Amino acid sequence: MKGTTPHGIRDEQDAARWVRDMFGRIAPRYDLANHLLSYNLDRLWRRRTVKRVRAILDRPEARVLDICCGTGDLAVALRNGGKARVLASDFCHPMLQAATRKLPGGVLFESDALRLPVRDSSLDLVTVAFGFRNLIDYDAGLREMRRVLRPGGMAAILEFSQPRSGFFAAVYHFYSRRILPRIGGLITGAPDAYRYLPESIRKFPDAPELADGMRLVGFTHVSFEYLTGGSVALHLGRV
Ligand SMILES: C[S@@+](CC[C@H](N)C(=O)[O-])C[C@H]1O[C@@H](n2cnc3c(N)ncnc32)[C@H](O)[C@@H]1O
Repeated sequence: MKGTTPHGIRDEQDAARWVRDMFGRIAPRYDLANHLLSYNLDRLWRRRTVKRVRAILDRPEARVLDICCGTGDLAVALRNGGKARVLASDFCHPMLQAATRKLPGGVLFESDALRLPVRDSSLDLVTVAFGFRNLIDYDAGLREMRRVLRPGGMAAILEFSQPRSGFFAAVYHFYSRRILPRIGGLITGAPDAYRYLPESIRKFPDAPELADGMRLVGFTHVSFEYLTGGSVALHLGRV
């Protein structure tokens, strides 16, 4: 599976730096671009994720970590969705600053998702929304999620996928290749970020492969569901 390979970048550490800098540049307009480009469907996808993990969120003693939290939208939805304590982390300072404003009093920390400063087997739920695809090593990302989860804990990965066939797939590919980079570039002033987005989705493992990757690192009860015609997939796995 390996990991993200932004166009023209060969070295893994350069790729991670490029991703962090790119998100730093788009942070101020990220939410606006997100909601506009997804026609607000991103809110629906996060709500579905919250619904699937509600049993854990309802437990006041449960500890939840949203990695690659960005500006914090999933962390906010998780916190509002139950009684569990929700922590959030990201390796991009400007994104984390935006998240801090949405989660006053919350525990947020700056960290690479591949090296979390979290004890083994200490969390009940780890979530990641649209951040996993940007990791430089997907297997290492899965291993790190598994490491910090207690027995019985759960991982939830919400990530873009690709509709494979039919009319919707044709419309989706036209939109993601032709329209999205232009509008995203105009909103954020960073056209490269919105060329990277569809490119990284194209290169990302498909949902069955990611599910296999989860099983290989030791997740059990692995399942996934497609949302919005297969443009997004939500994976769940237990430890
Ligand atoms: C597309 S944004 C998603 C943000 C948020 N989860 C959401 O649903 O809107 C991806 C986020 O992942 C973060 N990210 C990417 N690679 C990371 C890594 N290796 N460690 C920590 N954060 C990372 C980026 O900084 C960015 O904030």
